[in-house]
Amino acid sequence: MSNNYYNKSKKGLFISFEGGEGVGKSTQIELLKTSLTKKKINVLSTREPGGTKEGELIRKFLVSGEINSWDTYSESLLFNALRREHINKIINPSLFKGDIVLCDRFIDSTIVYQGVGGAINQTLLLSLHKNFCYDLYPDITFFLSLDPKVGLDRTLSRNNKTENRFENMGLLYHQKIQDGFKALSDKNNKRFFEINAELSVEKISNQIYDHVISIIKSND
Ligand code: TMP
Repeated sequence: MSNNYYNKSKKGLFISFEGGEGVGKSTQIELLKTSLTKKKINVLSTREPGGTKEGELIRKFLVSGEINSWDTYSESLLFNALRREHINKIINPSLFKGDIVLCDRFIDSTIVYQGVGGAINQTLLLSLHKNFCYDLYPDITFFLSLDPKVGLDRTLSRNNKTENRFENMGLLYHQKIQDGFKALSDKNNKRFFEINAELSVEKISNQIYDHVISIIKSND
């Protein structure tokens, strides 16, 4: 299936949110969704791992259990499988309708967690993305940048204590994740918009909203 077919025919705007643990992505997605909906813009919010019924089932296996329950290659294949379902069933149909899609994590998480954290060759991961996931990239990626120690402390106060397989990988691993996102963001600075996640929720949401509105206006 041609990648170009997917990219050329989409009318909507695809926005992803990335960063390490506890950076506040889901709060920001909810706030942006509310603000855009008030402006009568059609918005769909979704997440990875997850996004579809099947993807949510795979999520359970990936985010719970022992840290070494999956080999990193198997893990990468599972992320690609759930992403392909997600693109086919949710993301592309919404983009074709012209909606704004807000996605909590996408390909960049695989590049950083499985690539940088798990030491899988980046060329291999990019090739999986090209062959299985239509080489689809977000139009905008918000990188919420935070000291991993602060982020991990924040996740400790969460209610959900079963979804902690990645959190349990330790500070050294999470420092690699933060550094990996920072490097990826610097390298792709047209698509990425880096935000200091230590700022107040309101300041962060204002920066995100202003950037999205400026992109919408420049696309009109
Ligand atoms: P979440 O806590 O942001 O919902 O994400 C669940 C975990 O999944 C998080 O620790 C990062 C991990 N993850 C990967 O390792 N690779 C991926 O491609 C994605 C989408 C998530």
